[in-house]
Amino acid sequence: MSMRCAVFASGGGSNFQALLDRKAKGDLSVEFVLMIGNNSKAAAFDRARSNNIPSLHIAPSHFHSEEEYAQAMIAALTEAQTEFIVLAGYMKMLPSRIVKEYRNKIINIHPGLLPAFGGKGMYGMNVHKAVLEYGAKISGVTVHFVDEEYDHGPVIMQKAVDVLDDDDAEALASRVLEAEHDTYWRALEDIALGRICVDGRRVSVSAGGVASSSPG
Ligand code: GAR
Repeated sequence: MSMRCAVFASGGGSNFQALLDRKAKGDLSVEFVLMIGNNSKAAAFDRARSNNIPSLHIAPSHFHSEEEYAQAMIAALTEAQTEFIVLAGYMKMLPSRIVKEYRNKIINIHPGLLPAFGGKGMYGMNVHKAVLEYGAKISGVTVHFVDEEYDHGPVIMQKAVDVLDDDDAEALASRVLEAEHDTYWRALEDIALGRICVDGRRVSVSAGGVASSSPG
């Protein structure tokens, strides 16, 4: 039985699309059962619709309290029999109750090499601007489990991307995004096939994992 995943997205959803493409190619043994977004205009909703994946717009402003907000999410996740949550460009902190209920069952992709250039306010283009301002020579992608702190849970996979002398934030973002698309499905597939072992902060992938560069 393939792992039942909910995808959370806030924007364009190109990472979501890359996962859908990998699934269509037969490289990803998961089922996408639900998409949740906090921004009703997110293109990720269109991607869900065209793939017949049920989607829900859930935003904190719809609720009187964090508890009600978390409860609505839990209800939707439970109804869809969600086993695992994939954050794909989701720009909101998840309620801690969700993190608790899905401990080590939520992953995020960050457009930088954590722990550098992470934390509150470090998302999307902010990361690439900060990397360039700092003058770092290498940036990249981090896939990690989600815990109660921003960009903090155990690291599952990282991929480095060179920062070029003539990069602006857009150019760097687009090369990092390409690396994201080639990385996220590998981490998810390793998890879906039970190849990932978590020991405190140390995450290891057993033999046969797709972490190393296999042909795309
Ligand atoms: C991606 O670069 C992703 O790593 C980043 O937002 C972009 C979303 O693109 N996520 C974060 O910064 C989360 N903290 P997408 O909507 O096209 O997948």
